[in-house]
Amino acid sequence: MQIKFPESFTWGVATAAAQVEGAVFEDGRGPSIWDVFSRLPGKIKNGYLPDIACDSYHKVERDVEMLKELGVKSYRFSFSWSRILPEGTGKVNEKGIIYYKKLLALLKENGIRANATMYHWDLPYALQMKGGFGNREIVKWFCEYASVLLDNFGEDIDMWATFNEPIATYVGYAQGFFAPGLQDEKYARQALHHLLLCHGECVKLFREHMFTHASIGIVVDVWKHYPAREGNAEDQSIAVTSNEIRGYGMFLHPLFLGGYSKELMNYFEINHLTPDIQDGDFETICQPLDFYGLNFYNGLYDNADEIREMEKTRKAGGNYQDRPENHPEALKDVLHMLVEKYHVDIPIYITENGVPIDDADGREANLDDQSRIEYVKNVLIWLHKAIEEGIDVRGYYLWSLMDNFEWSAGYAARYGLYYTDYETLERIPKKSAKWYAQVTRENGLLIDAVPQA
Ligand code: NOJ
Repeated sequence: MQIKFPESFTWGVATAAAQVEGAVFEDGRGPSIWDVFSRLPGKIKNGYLPDIACDSYHKVERDVEMLKELGVKSYRFSFSWSRILPEGTGKVNEKGIIYYKKLLALLKENGIRANATMYHWDLPYALQMKGGFGNREIVKWFCEYASVLLDNFGEDIDMWATFNEPIATYVGYAQGFFAPGLQDEKYARQALHHLLLCHGECVKLFREHMFTHASIGIVVDVWKHYPAREGNAEDQSIAVTSNEIRGYGMFLHPLFLGGYSKELMNYFEINHLTPDIQDGDFETICQPLDFYGLNFYNGLYDNADEIREMEKTRKAGGNYQDRPENHPEALKDVLHMLVEKYHVDIPIYITENGVPIDDADGREANLDDQSRIEYVKNVLIWLHKAIEEGIDVRGYYLWSLMDNFEWSAGYAARYGLYYTDYETLERIPKKSAKWYAQVTRENGLLIDAVPQA
């Protein structure tokens, strides 16, 4: 049978600057924290560097051609802060502006809407040297950057996200697996508070521009944890901690309900981690938004015994998609949770969803990626069900347009619809690219059966 999506549904694909652009030392771009972090021994699998990545800085025409081939209506990409402002603030790099103008012009010519993220993890290194997100001055720095973006590109962008997956800043400041590689939980908690303030102040700035064609939101990933064994107190407590203390609760509560949750405040107090919060901060953070971007990859069932074993072998390059089970049905539950628990009453977009195949599996297995098709198909089935149940989801973006620099996994994890040959920088459509083009063309897909739940 065939399932169809609402007529105005937006199909898209997503990328991010640091993962595709390359050209990190060209045309006046300043270094970002990832350029520096990736050079620290042992931080990135096989010592891979983001220096060239997919070379999208020079291959933007080909990228847009691929978007056309896929038939997507919208392209989600991010701006590189250090390409626009090499020092983070101050002098604007005109060559950087020209690059993004070119991308936006090509999108327009081809009738593809732009969905732009202001910050996708790549802080200018110059700002990290001043304390990065740990310094409250970041709010001013971020607004200066956002002003440059809004002034230069405001007319050509339909959707703006202030931040993508702010949890990456926690991973980079508290756990050390991401740039800048710090392991200081107190500092990290303060940094996240400032990050949320950057978001709130930026939304206010955006409103001052009075754009009539554009909307603004934020992208927060939700990896919902469930206890694996019903009635097991340890499993239950791991799930609560992973959701509320170190997961989506850190962001969704202040963004949509105002203030930090009771669970998080207790945790702060017990562990002496309460950030410096000034009067009015929570009002600033909790700005009305036009949309919410959900990055969804998997639902996770936590078994305390298994997790203890996994922690022992945790290595750079790993992520939650290393878990053996896929739980696409969690998407429907997550969407209901957004509405029921966090009172999200604005349109929702799935701003990322996808699955990696290991580079080590070889080129042929990567090109013939039936497993990716099956995974996405299942996610879309559950998404469709949620829409039928009344959840207002307006679009779906597949991660990613092409294989790219997968952060601490380097080039070892391939997420693309197009295979990137890192020797020649050629992009070759995978089986999934042809399948996804059919989905976008038909605004739906063929499925064998509707799952029960
Ligand atoms: C989340 C991030 O936004 C993106 O940068 C990353 O590559 C994908 N998920 C896959 O891990």
